[in-house]
Amino acid sequence: MKFDSPATSNPIDQLKVIGQPVSRIDGPRKTTGTATYAYEWHDAAPNPAYGYIVGSAIAKGRIKSIDLTAAKAASGVLAIVTAENAGKLEKGSLNTAKLLGGPEIQHYHQAIAVVIAETFEQARAAAQLVRVDYISDKGAFDLSKLMESAKPEKITGGPADTAVGNFAPAFAAAPVQLDATYTTPDEAHAMMEPHASMAAWDGDRLTLWTSNQMIAWNVADIAKTLNIPKEKVRLISPYIGGGFGGKLFPRADALLAALGARAAGRPVKVALQRPLMFNNTTHRPATIQRIRIGATREGKITAIGHESWSGDLPGGKADGAVSQTRLLYAGADRMTTTRLAVLDLPEGNAMRAPGEATGMMALEIAMDEMAEKLGLDPVELRILNDTQVDPEKPERPFSQRRLIECLRTGAERFGWSKRSAQPGRVRDGRWLVGTGVAAAFRNNLLTKSAARVRLDNSGVVTVETDMTDIGTGSYTIIAQTAAEMMGVPIEKVAVHLGDSSFPVSAGSGGQWGGNNSTAGVYAACIKLREAVAQKLGFNSAEAVFADGQVKSGNRSVPLAQAAGGGALAAEDGIEYDGELAKKHQQSTFGAHFVEVGVDTATAEIRVRRMLAVCAAGRILNPKTARSQVIGAMSMGVGAALMEELVVDKRHGFFVNHDLAGYEVPVHADIPHQDVIFLDETDPMSSPMKAKGIAELGICGVAAAVANAIYNASGVRVRDYPITLDKLLPRLPEVG
Ligand code: MOS
Repeated sequence: MKFDSPATSNPIDQLKVIGQPVSRIDGPRKTTGTATYAYEWHDAAPNPAYGYIVGSAIAKGRIKSIDLTAAKAASGVLAIVTAENAGKLEKGSLNTAKLLGGPEIQHYHQAIAVVIAETFEQARAAAQLVRVDYISDKGAFDLSKLMESAKPEKITGGPADTAVGNFAPAFAAAPVQLDATYTTPDEAHAMMEPHASMAAWDGDRLTLWTSNQMIAWNVADIAKTLNIPKEKVRLISPYIGGGFGGKLFPRADALLAALGARAAGRPVKVALQRPLMFNNTTHRPATIQRIRIGATREGKITAIGHESWSGDLPGGKADGAVSQTRLLYAGADRMTTTRLAVLDLPEGNAMRAPGEATGMMALEIAMDEMAEKLGLDPVELRILNDTQVDPEKPERPFSQRRLIECLRTGAERFGWSKRSAQPGRVRDGRWLVGTGVAAAFRNNLLTKSAARVRLDNSGVVTVETDMTDIGTGSYTIIAQTAAEMMGVPIEKVAVHLGDSSFPVSAGSGGQWGGNNSTAGVYAACIKLREAVAQKLGFNSAEAVFADGQVKSGNRSVPLAQAAGGGALAAEDGIEYDGELAKKHQQSTFGAHFVEVGVDTATAEIRVRRMLAVCAAGRILNPKTARSQVIGAMSMGVGAALMEELVVDKRHGFFVNHDLAGYEVPVHADIPHQDVIFLDETDPMSSPMKAKGIAELGICGVAAAVANAIYNASGVRVRDYPITLDKLLPRLPEVG
């Protein structure tokens, strides 16, 4: 189905199931431990062996020699795969061939061998006996020293640089100016379930049970890397214990399980060891961001400039921190630039809201600083500079943009009017108390998505699509979509996901999964409705699907009967017309409000309450959507206060590479959280009229926390995370 004109009224609008706070249909499977994660496919392939990965002990250089004698002789060892015996590996996207390093080493903890043994313990013991001699080269590990040599690099969805009008003179002429530099550190996805895979070969056919967000991308990449046809690779990934962008692409576990299984002649399971994950896989790259804003004394932005620097391995990607600055606020003279430095640290890549997440951390502090310079309320400054059109291309309106309503609704609900604009004025016992606000912004991306639906003679509708559920609620919203479309209760829908033998979906990434995958199911259900109507001799335009019946005129037939003796099946997908998407800018909006306490003596920071207001099209399921947003808000608190991969700038690795050293918020860190969804539909997004929500929820949170800390204490910190040491020396003397 081609989506080439704005959505009109359709069966989804009945809202009998869609829009309801349905509990996750996969919940019982997860809470009873019967949902099978990648490492747990105990019966899927007979007699699996276990792999243990050896990671490089240097960041850059080469392996001089590798001695496997002792490891091979260890008990239970079946095979050891290294670059020397793996055969030629081709380059997939992101250079998947380098998932097995050697002799050249690109980064610390790059996999250089996998030891396959009868048991996990034997593989682990033998891996300690692998002897490696390295020749170490000098690497570049410090982004701040490489800003001069960094090169322009395009970002996802846009060019490296943009310019409208003439920024420099407009900024110079502005009566009120801000020029500040902000830094964000390297961050890890740190999902609960490590990257894990089981591989089994049947002749030249490979099956991978793995933990992966994007099934079709990964089939293509694995096939390409192993130089086998795509048709020979099957990926199965129905349950995923978190991804956050870290499982968009194949990682070493998948490739080395495949190579290990081939070498051992048996199915092989490989889970990345937790201490390896942080340096072996991808991470959110650190940024340095300079923001300049010029405004009239009344607070109208006249000039806005955002320059961002990040680093990556040779041939890598730039962080898109400037993305939102191209779209969020008005201002006639504007510029953005993106510079990428070559670093020899582990590979940087997407992590929840790549681009906007880091960009909003900087921009939304800058707006708070600007509001103070202007003597304006920070909510009002944002409202004053709202734009209903793409500020770089004024002929393009936003399809929906209710940022002002998000800010006003949030201010009202949060009690913003009671705030002291003057920092450091509110005390609660030993705490200095403050509140902060930030806008939320993330683009809404359209990508095609297909599904197959089947109606059987018991009236059960089965959906199959290679869509994944990374903890987001995909199973549930897909079931709701099929139930609404076919007029059955949700209990009559079965959903099967995460298998490459199913039609190719949008997958889980970039907060595009919810809207696009359900739109694909919608398209397939339209076809199934036509097949049902035809079978019953109904005019498909007149047939009504409700209460398990198909009705037309005064005839009403149970849906189950339409399947006849067997089953009726239909397959289709949604495809977007590029022209329609070009006419409007599609984005999602929100506002974050945060209250913090800062201990007057120790500078301990506690978040006290949080509120997010989101405008993101139709909310398909307020329960799963809320769960996404509060998760994202928690992750934003992590970015504000805790998360930092500490770079060893001499040897080039992330020092805190486990969950003891890499801190993320726990329940005790997260107090009262509230989420409000504005009631809206976006007819430009898809027949579902929905948009993404899961990444919007993190964008701006960290800045709202930073702004609240400033309001509480009067100390402005521009370098994340805001840890006590950055606050303590500058805390005001208090009685
Ligand atoms: Mo997302 S960072 O595209 O999973």
